[in-house]
Amino acid sequence: MLIAQITDMHLKGEGELLFGRVDTTGFLERAVAHVNALDPRPDIVLATGDLVNDGGAEQYANLARVLSALDMPVYLIPGNHDARDAMRAAFPEHRYLPADGFLQYTVEGLPVRLIALDTLVPGKGSGELCDVRLAWLEARLVESDRPTLIFMHHPPFDCGITAMDEQHGLTDGRERLSEIVRRHPNVERVMCGHVHRPIQVRWAGTVASIAPSTAHQATLDLRPGAALSMKMEPPGIALHQWREGTGLVTHLSYVGNYDGPKPFRQL
Ligand SMILES: [Fe+2]
Ligand SMILES: [Fe+2]
Repeated sequence: MLIAQITDMHLKGEGELLFGRVDTTGFLERAVAHVNALDPRPDIVLATGDLVNDGGAEQYANLARVLSALDMPVYLIPGNHDARDAMRAAFPEHRYLPADGFLQYTVEGLPVRLIALDTLVPGKGSGELCDVRLAWLEARLVESDRPTLIFMHHPPFDCGITAMDEQHGLTDGRERLSEIVRRHPNVERVMCGHVHRPIQVRWAGTVASIAPSTAHQATLDLRPGAALSMKMEPPGIALHQWREGTGLVTHLSYVGNYDGPKPFRQL
């Protein structure tokens, strides 16, 4: 089973550029074409938040338009740039989205079980998991000991890009989340976005990972106190392959035109 993870697409309205400069719509269109062209083709796509930049209806309409080109189902969760009700309204056919409240749900019937968490705090760049959201997670995990993947926008760990960690991190609930996940060793992975870089860490007895943005990346700057800045490094997606007997193997797949493939030693 193959899962493509796209994240931090930050769409503006159709024809609009992010910061007046970055064509996030064009970046997402290329990521969608990239996913559709993969062989073997991913079974599903997970879009892990910051789907649009400002939570507006016209931005979600643009997102729905671009994602409709995907050849496989896509599951959406919100990031700090999203708005729950506008997101719900733009995707009425996405029946897995709860009709009200937090956008948390499970995806059943696949070789792995998927659990979506909602870390959004309206108006803030940081995220949280309150008692209600964590109690829901605990109840879902108690239901099954099947291999399970959790996906959420804000990573539950500090990544060393201190502006992200200190100003835009998961401020509330990370310890309790860690305690819950530790009690359920069938959690094979916690997949996140938000940082706009590929990052992995051992966390709470499992592995937590972050996929790069489909558009702009965060600058890799590990100096304490460094200002947050962005860089047009190559866009990418995470490609997670569930392999029986091995577990979840994750590849970073760059989106773009690169020289090759050519026979070995002839590149
Ligand atoms: Fe983002
Ligand atoms: Fe974010």
